[in-house]
Amino acid sequence: MDYKQYIEIVEDYPKEGISFKDITPLMNNGEAFKSAIDEIVQFAKEKKIDLVVGPEARGFIIGCPVSYALGVGFAPVRKEGKLPREVIKVDYGLEYGRNVLTIHKDAIKPGQRVLVTDDLLATGGTIEATIKLVEELGGIVVGCAFLVELSYLDGMDKLKGYDVLTLMSY
Ligand code: PRP
Repeated sequence: MDYKQYIEIVEDYPKEGISFKDITPLMNNGEAFKSAIDEIVQFAKEKKIDLVVGPEARGFIIGCPVSYALGVGFAPVRKEGKLPREVIKVDYGLEYGRNVLTIHKDAIKPGQRVLVTDDLLATGGTIEATIKLVEELGGIVVGCAFLVELSYLDGMDKLKGYDVLTLMSY
């Protein structure tokens, strides 16, 4: 499917110079959204996934339907102060600004095979931080899946050695 027809590009949002890729029209279209999720599920199926992990907020939109389809759990990675129990945290830089991400300490059991999902790969800072959290808890990242990759930001360089699926590239 040509998913790009469902992506709206918004120039200078949220800051001047940023070309924002809005995935909400894709989510809004049942056929396109289902097809995109199904492709990620296919990618994940042969990997014997135990758990899906996705960062706030749009990583949830992709990760949750994938985990449901695979019949495995989902663990949220959230911005600091949002998870109620004991967490581990990581500080990282993103396309615009800095951020701290956290995960519950008991969200992953050592040796669990994890699929990491997000809507978009830009600089790779968010996914790198998410992978760090997973691996610190002893999880094994067996795949990473995104709807969109911004190849001009070289986020893929941070994912060397990982099995990565992206449905669209700009
Ligand atoms: C966006 C996007 C990815 C991340 C990609 O999320 O959903 O998670 O940026 O950028 P990176 O590869 O440069 O790290 P954002 O941080 O805006 O959070 P949100 O989904 O909560 O709006």
